[in-house]
Amino acid sequence: MALFPDEVDVFTGPHWRMKQLVGLYSEKLSKTNFSNFRDFRSFLQSLLATFKEFKMHEQIENECIMDLLQQRSQTVYHVHADNKLSEMLTLFEKGLRSVKSEHEQLNYARQLKERLEAFTQDFLPHMKEEEEVYQPMLMEYFSYDELKAIKRQVMLQHSST
Ligand code: FEO
Repeated sequence: MALFPDEVDVFTGPHWRMKQLVGLYSEKLSKTNFSNFRDFRSFLQSLLATFKEFKMHEQIENECIMDLLQQRSQTVYHVHADNKLSEMLTLFEKGLRSVKSEHEQLNYARQLKERLEAFTQDFLPHMKEEEEVYQPMLMEYFSYDELKAIKRQVMLQHSST
């Protein structure tokens, strides 16, 4: 894996946090007692907060990085276009709103496990692609000073969320 100087590496820092969140929800997924109403709800609340943070990350990348790259390269497709995060947020909200009995909790948990695992299987390679494909592209299309400014903006936005 190519390493880029920290001052122009726009992905690795924020991704460290996103991967930490993935680790945390994966651990909670395996430890949550889905028969217990309080545990069930507390896990869904934490998923809501986590996925809102993912969404913010995506928005920052769109505004501060991808839109600019698209203008320069003309060939970059919209890397966050498929809106999986909104679907996941809808799933969690639905669980909090309409799951009432232990039986429903256990059924929902099965679906939740499948969807979360599928999400993780897409999200980790997605971040890897940004780090290994998009970062070199940025190095090609932007000057070092421009990238330094982009990185500053990316970090500033992440720290204010
Ligand atoms: Fe850095 Fe698009 O997730």
